Amino acid sequence: MKVLVTGGMGYIGSHTCVQMIEAGITPVIIDNLCNAKREVLNRIKNLTQTTPVFYEGDVRDETLLDRVFSEQKIDSVVHFAGLKAVGESVAKPLEYYDNNVNGSLVLARAMRKAGVKSLVFSSSATVYGDPASVPITESFPTGATTNPYGRSKYMVEECLRDLFYAEPDWSITLLRYFNPVGAHPSGSMGEDPQGIPNNLMPFIAQVAVGRRDHLSVFGDDYATPDGTGVRDYIHVMDLADGHIAAIRGVGNKAGLHIYNLGTGQGSSVLDMVNAFTAACGHDVPYQICPRRPGDIAECWASTAKVEADLGWKATRTVEQMTADTWNWQSKNPNGYE
Ligand code: NAD
Ligand code: UFG
Repeated sequence: MKVLVTGGMGYIGSHTCVQMIEAGITPVIIDNLCNAKREVLNRIKNLTQTTPVFYEGDVRDETLLDRVFSEQKIDSVVHFAGLKAVGESVAKPLEYYDNNVNGSLVLARAMRKAGVKSLVFSSSATVYGDPASVPITESFPTGATTNPYGRSKYMVEECLRDLFYAEPDWSITLLRYFNPVGAHPSGSMGEDPQGIPNNLMPFIAQVAVGRRDHLSVFGDDYATPDGTGVRDYIHVMDLADGHIAAIRGVGNKAGLHIYNLGTGQGSSVLDMVNAFTAACGHDVPYQICPRRPGDIAECWASTAKVEADLGWKATRTVEQMTADTWNWQSKNPNGYE
């Protein structure tokens, strides 16, 4: 089976390519390298003894997509390519809508032309906005998002929903990720954010390795057990396996399939700091700061539907997430550079 992986050089895409190869699936990558390094291909090769076919280019380039589909016999597409920084999306909404929404439309059009009608889309728990309660099931309302990034994910979900209603022979799978963290257990692949990390885990990792002096904890007055924000952190290797479960489970079944990919468990900011301290063997200095605008108190998944339908369940613990992040960060203090 051959799967086109858009954004396959990025954080989640690269780990998914490795797991695909291990599972006997052939990934073909298209990535414009706007947020990834070419070195990722060498890391995939060293881990799997396989170098995936790589097209350097943009998913908005329909001519390139037509060429990819004519040169490769693609069975299914996993669409990771997009921009993902919440703060940047507020400053650059047009870039976000063009890349994330328009990119997905161009891709879907090229797929239809090529007769490839199996698509897995990287969505996000952000589509649920501030949920009325936790755990969040797939039937919770979506759309009350608070920033252009979140709205772009919601819009693509709605576009794909309409596509499925119009052309019900498609298999469209919307995977709503909770908080992906961790790294390949070898320490040779992981998250390599450009500039100052926006997300908790890469920030903690950079403090632990000495690149930054302390973590700012955004608020300790939420209605949570220790007052800090609670999220559903999921190991990137589990997330990668979730894509394979989706492709194999529903990728060839016409339908609109929607799943949360999380662990079903919440951890607070201080839980993650403590777990990281245990993993790296020294303190991670932090300061309590005001809340970050737009943040919510708690966000964690119900995983009942994905477990029942796909037989997939995240198995890696917070201890493994922090240990693997530390292993990657300490072996590659400057990422892939
Ligand atoms: P990432 O930035 O590491 O990977 C995205 C990849 O897409 C990069 O390699 C980038 O170079 C490429 N890319 C971007 N725009 C492109 C374009 N127009 N054409 C071709 N390539 C392009 O991000 P990630 O963390 O691996 O996230 C992958 C997907 O998952 C994204 O769609 C993201 O929105 C979604 N997601 C991520 C998270 C998270 O916390 N990491 C959470 C929920 C959803
Ligand atoms: N946090 C800090 N300090 C930091 C960074 C984060 O205290 O320096 C806290 C936040 O306030 C929050 C928690 O750590 O309570 C997690 O924050 P992240 O920025 O790591 O993640 P978010 O839950 O805010 O958002 C992430 C992605 C979004 C995605 C969402 C749901 O950034 O793109 O998960 O999947 F939409």
